[in-house]
Amino acid sequence: MSNSDFTPRDNFGSKFGIVAAAAGSAVGLGNIWKFPYVAGQNGGGAFLVVYLLFIIAIGLPVMLSEFSIGRRAQRNAIGSFKKLAPGKPWYLVGVMGVAAAFLILSFYSAVAGWTLEYVAKSVTNAFAEKNETELNNMFGSFISGTWRPLFWQFIFMILTAWIVVAGVKKGIEKYTKILMPLLVVMIIILCIRSVTLPGSGEGLAFLFRPDFSALSADAVLSALGQAFFSLSLGMGTLITYGSYIGKNDNLTGTVLHVSAADTIIAILAGVAIFPAVFAFGIDPGEGPGLVFITLPNIFQQMPGGYFFALLFFILLAVAALTSSISVLEVVVAYFVEELNLTRRRATILAASMITVLGVFCTLSFGIMSDVSIFGLVFFDLMDFTASNLLLPLGGFFIVMFVGWFLGAGPSRKEISNEGILKLGYFPVFIFLVRFVAPFAIALVFIYGLGLIRF
Ligand code: PFF
Repeated sequence: MSNSDFTPRDNFGSKFGIVAAAAGSAVGLGNIWKFPYVAGQNGGGAFLVVYLLFIIAIGLPVMLSEFSIGRRAQRNAIGSFKKLAPGKPWYLVGVMGVAAAFLILSFYSAVAGWTLEYVAKSVTNAFAEKNETELNNMFGSFISGTWRPLFWQFIFMILTAWIVVAGVKKGIEKYTKILMPLLVVMIIILCIRSVTLPGSGEGLAFLFRPDFSALSADAVLSALGQAFFSLSLGMGTLITYGSYIGKNDNLTGTVLHVSAADTIIAILAGVAIFPAVFAFGIDPGEGPGLVFITLPNIFQQMPGGYFFALLFFILLAVAALTSSISVLEVVVAYFVEELNLTRRRATILAASMITVLGVFCTLSFGIMSDVSIFGLVFFDLMDFTASNLLLPLGGFFIVMFVGWFLGAGPSRKEISNEGILKLGYFPVFIFLVRFVAPFAIALVFIYGLGLIRF
């Protein structure tokens, strides 16, 4: 890995590698753990329709903006703004992104650690013969403990750092190329299991038959927030990955592939979960415990449950890992290029700092559960600050940067590979980036701050 202008930067080695790495970032706990429960709480089908609209009208232009900034500048999230807008305060957008990376990984690694515990529980057949209450207690006593959740969080952070140390081509790309297809295969097997359960039709109807009367303003805004988090937008993750994309690769094609993969996997997660939820008579609005409490219940009641539980939690852990490496890479690329650290040192330093923050997140379910700042326990504070403040704000400035600061000319040059690709859709892109996306993101941001309530 180089940290100067005069030696070539590490790059993705193939088109498939780019898509696998970026889709690996997008597809994570956001799709498989969060999407089904948020959709479940917000009415199912109608939420899905609005979510899809936001992906198309806002997610696609924001993602294309991030990739073009990164590839044009060939730098990390902060360095990119410094290079494209020298002497201007735009680099603060990158600073916010790096800060968001710290916060996100601190709580993300806590939940990812839970998935590892649930892999271990699946191996030892710990869900067998347990009813809903017992599984509920099992989850509650695990997350409120001290050493066990911390142990799994450390293991998860070590795995993340280990892949990131190896670098872009030999680390991130090599592993995501194997893990992403594996993930798709595993989730398809789970979907088949779920839709063949007796009584599964109701679950499919819940997910695919929109009932717009059930859709609140609140649900619309949750859909927009979910689109941001799920596509890894707003914190420079895709600026950083964009800087590893070759000058001849088609950015728009990559955006379409990554968004399609992310959306399809969220829908597949819904197809794997809702039919089973309805077949076993469980409340679809169960909330964040849907995966960790309800699914083991479903698994242990069905034939082959031992195998499917194991498969599901491995899948969740793998999805979390390919996302967490992209979050760590944002910090590492910055440390390497702007602070001139070696890649190994940068990774160890970043991962250690994040792990310290992460300890507080994990303990906020246990011994620190009555320590609150602004009325939030540490875990919720990190999540709220990153997801509700930093991501929307970052996304807003990223589209403003591309739409108004860089402007149509340079953006067109970058996206068309210096005029080689024909871009019939470019006016639509510029319109979305200048007007539609900033307006919608501003709405989420203001809502996230609680300044407006519908
Ligand atoms: N997109 C990831 C998920 O859906 O789980 C989470 C995430 C990764 C958010 C990277 C933000 C980010 F920069």
